[in-house]
Amino acid sequence: MDDSVLRRTLAIAVDAIICVDSEQRIIFFNDGASTVFGYAAAEATGKPLSMLLPERFRQAHGQHMTRFAGTSDAARRMGERGEIAGLRKDGTEFPAEASIAHIRTEQGLVYAVVLRDVTERRRFETENSELVRDLRGAVAARDDMLSIVSHDLRNPVNAVKMLAAAILRTGDAAPLPGEVGQHADVMLQAARQMDALIQDLLDVSKLESGRMSMNPRPIPITEILDEATEMLRPGAEQAGVAIRLAVPARLPAADVDPDRIVQVLSNLIGNAIKYTPRGGHVTISAEPTDDFLQVTVADTGVGIPEQELPRVFDRFWQSKRTNRSGAGLGLTIARGMVRAHGGRIWIESVPGTGTQVHFTVPRAARPGRAART
Ligand SMILES: Nc1ncnc2c1ncn2[C@@H]1O[C@H](COP(=O)(O)OP(=O)(O)O)[C@@H](O)[C@H]1O
Ligand SMILES: [Mg+2]
Repeated sequence: MDDSVLRRTLAIAVDAIICVDSEQRIIFFNDGASTVFGYAAAEATGKPLSMLLPERFRQAHGQHMTRFAGTSDAARRMGERGEIAGLRKDGTEFPAEASIAHIRTEQGLVYAVVLRDVTERRRFETENSELVRDLRGAVAARDDMLSIVSHDLRNPVNAVKMLAAAILRTGDAAPLPGEVGQHADVMLQAARQMDALIQDLLDVSKLESGRMSMNPRPIPITEILDEATEMLRPGAEQAGVAIRLAVPARLPAADVDPDRIVQVLSNLIGNAIKYTPRGGHVTISAEPTDDFLQVTVADTGVGIPEQELPRVFDRFWQSKRTNRSGAGLGLTIARGMVRAHGGRIWIESVPGTGTQVHFTVPRAARPGRAART
């Protein structure tokens, strides 16, 4: 290849490429070097390399070059730990990274330097680490807030709950004056709602930080479905919604933490009741699949428009159409719990017809199966 091709290629490289002779005088200065340092090639040629270095580095650098020429290393990288800097024509300094090689030619020793201005990258790195620090701070602040919520808010809420219940009990023995009974009843409901909200916030934070404890064990899934259904039955009756369990006679056992799955189901059944008008139905069913059990909560309620479906599992998300009695955390928590078991959860819905929420949980290993594998 013609030398001029190589020369031209080096000239247009973005990095600064500089060659100096054994006296460390500049003999080649490419376009990249002009851009980085602010000198034209003609201006720089013949000048000492040291003019491209901040004053304080010059002496050490000169010695470094001479020592390097005496080694058998062909090339060396410099500045990876941020120790080198360049000096522009306008007097400003910048952080740099460089590689240097020494080449013996017929005209004598030549050093080739390839140098990159890393100002942008350094700024990025600093900004990134500041961002990470801020983010960590924000997460810590959130956790602090949640622990304040849990301990400092929970106790007074419990006090309200207990005292409202106590007032209502007094009413069992002798009639309460005026509207005290109704007021105490409202207080009790409100305190219960607050307590549930606090519990949801705590659960979300625990699930997200991986602090939610899971104690799975083999257990018949029907036991869990029964418990959840019976728990929600009074609410369904009050809402005029029929609730029904439809499971095959023999289902394999599940490998789950029963308390957590009851919680998932009560979220889903609670939603089904909440979003189903009077006279509607909620059906809870289950069937085995390969290594899982698939549970479905189906309702004949208002449904969810297609464009809202991708958002229903988001934290705090609630449809604008629905009343705002919850906090929009139920499905987030349900998904977190199902995933913590290694299962999946998804929703199908037809507006005006009804909604089906499906989730899977692992089956307990069949006796003998473990021994064979
Ligand atoms: N069975 C359902 N039928 C219709 N809409 C539902 C159903 N389940 C959930 N949704 C919609 O998804 C949103 C999020 O549900 P969720 O996370 O449980 O929050 P919340 O119940 O507190 O509103 C609800 O506000 C509602 O709009
Ligand atoms: Mg809900």
